Amino acid sequence: MASPLTFSPTFSLQLSAVLLLLLSSSSSSSAAATLINESSFLLCLSSKFPSATHLSSVVYTQNSSSFDSLLQFSAQNPYLSTPSTPNKPLYIITPVNEAQIQASVICSKRHGLQIRVRSGGHDYEGLSYLALEPFLILDLIEYRAIDINVGERTAWVQAGATLGELYYGLASTSLGFPAGVCTTLGLGAVTVFTVSRTVEEGATGLMGIWQNVAPRLPDELVIRVILQAATTRSTVQASFNSLYLGSAQDLLSVMKLRFPELGLRAEDCQQMSWVDSTMYFDGFPSGTPREALLNRTKSGRNSFKATSDFVVEPISEEGLRGLWGKLLEEPRGLMIWEPLGGKINAVSETETPFPHRRGNLYNIQHYVNWDAGADAQRYIDWIRSLYSFVTPYVTRNPRGAYLNYKDLDLGRNINGPNTSYETASVWGLKYFKGNFRRLALVKGRVDKDNYFRNEQSIPPLLA
Ligand SMILES: *[C@@H]1O[C@H](CO)[C@@H](O)[C@H](O)[C@H]1NC(C)=O
Ligand SMILES: *[C@@H]1O[C@H](CO)[C@@H](O)[C@H](O)[C@H]1NC(C)=O
Ligand SMILES: *[C@@H]1O[C@H](CO)[C@@H](O)[C@H](O)[C@H]1NC(C)=O
Ligand SMILES: *[C@@H]1O[C@H](CO)[C@@H](O)[C@H](O)[C@H]1NC(C)=O
Repeated sequence: MASPLTFSPTFSLQLSAVLLLLLSSSSSSSAAATLINESSFLLCLSSKFPSATHLSSVVYTQNSSSFDSLLQFSAQNPYLSTPSTPNKPLYIITPVNEAQIQASVICSKRHGLQIRVRSGGHDYEGLSYLALEPFLILDLIEYRAIDINVGERTAWVQAGATLGELYYGLASTSLGFPAGVCTTLGLGAVTVFTVSRTVEEGATGLMGIWQNVAPRLPDELVIRVILQAATTRSTVQASFNSLYLGSAQDLLSVMKLRFPELGLRAEDCQQMSWVDSTMYFDGFPSGTPREALLNRTKSGRNSFKATSDFVVEPISEEGLRGLWGKLLEEPRGLMIWEPLGGKINAVSETETPFPHRRGNLYNIQHYVNWDAGADAQRYIDWIRSLYSFVTPYVTRNPRGAYLNYKDLDLGRNINGPNTSYETASVWGLKYFKGNFRRLALVKGRVDKDNYFRNEQSIPPLLA
């Protein structure tokens, strides 16, 4: 899924590349046995894997000593995978080439096993490593080659690579990559800033202005805002968090023209290389060696719940004041307002699955996290009440949502392969609008039995 310029201070998003799996022949779907014949399954794999493959270095059974650590390694949202999680995968397969992936798919389908494909494990609802039906994880942790062609300004990135690995690979070139948007740009120094204003310091008025200004800024400048209760809990704070593709001096003149009310000063600006800016937005302390981008383990992995909205009309001052009240209720909650516009508007709504383009001002991510052992329900209830509160201010018919901030509250498949197009439309139209029907027709052509599925996958629609 291509995402509009998405960077986040709290967690790095995984590159989600489309994995094309070619099923040579569709084996009988009557193999829906819940009891898997393990020796038969492993025999199938060893007969189909390329002859040089050592099965034990690619296939982990629940008996393998490293099974649990491998399972947890990329499980990014702890509360979803507690020890009481009903179903663990039966196997974890870590392919290193396409032939192993094809063999895994063929043998799984033949033995009535579902497949979940995991890259970095950032799926918000854990759908890349959890399932209720018997399943295995195709874990792409070893499938992560990055091949950068500086002359052609292109890169091939395997689906298991993290953004950090890609950014690190780009660091020695003059190229950058705005996560999720498939273009390359040549970049020298960039400038970043984070400027915070509380309600007492004028945040309400500034947010009124920001809503009109941010979606219409020059392509080189993005200013997003993180809204949350200030640490004192007595007020709300808006943090204006910005990336400018150019020098601090040029940024100051652009800001003076476009958003003078923020009062940006030279000392707020930090000039750095593009790759260092990716570390800045991911919250690494300044001076952290670049090699930290290669580390697939993040410190302080918190449980979280999130959901999203799109906004087409600026929220009134009265609405903003109501929102501040909601944020003061829950100091662990926050909203990230991410402006749209710019290059996002240059693509038509029907050209890619992502439909929230021209006419949208910004995306909101509603987010809350909590410590291990805390009562998850309390936080989930709060985010649901926030979602309900913002209803009058966001898109409707359908209310929009962003797939990468997946939320099973919007609805879920419960009938295994049988979910109807109508049922799935409840969430499908939110994520894809008019593109949902076309996606379902494609699904009907390539996977009419709905073998590849999850709780919010696209159902097959037969023409
Ligand atoms: C499991 O598969 C093996 C190999 O195909 C076969 O010999 C065995 O009879 C099967 N076991 C059961 C219980 O079906
Ligand atoms: C896993 O361990 C169980 C219990 O010791 C055993 O019955 C089973 O055959 C083992 N499976 C594999 C694939 O080694
Ligand atoms: C990766 O990050 C984790 C968490 O911060 C840390 O414990 C670990 O030592 C790091 N690993 C390497 C190789 O730097
Ligand atoms: C799906 O439909 C098939 C065929 O009608 C049926 O046999 C199966 O039980 C259904 N599965 C679920 C989970 O509803």
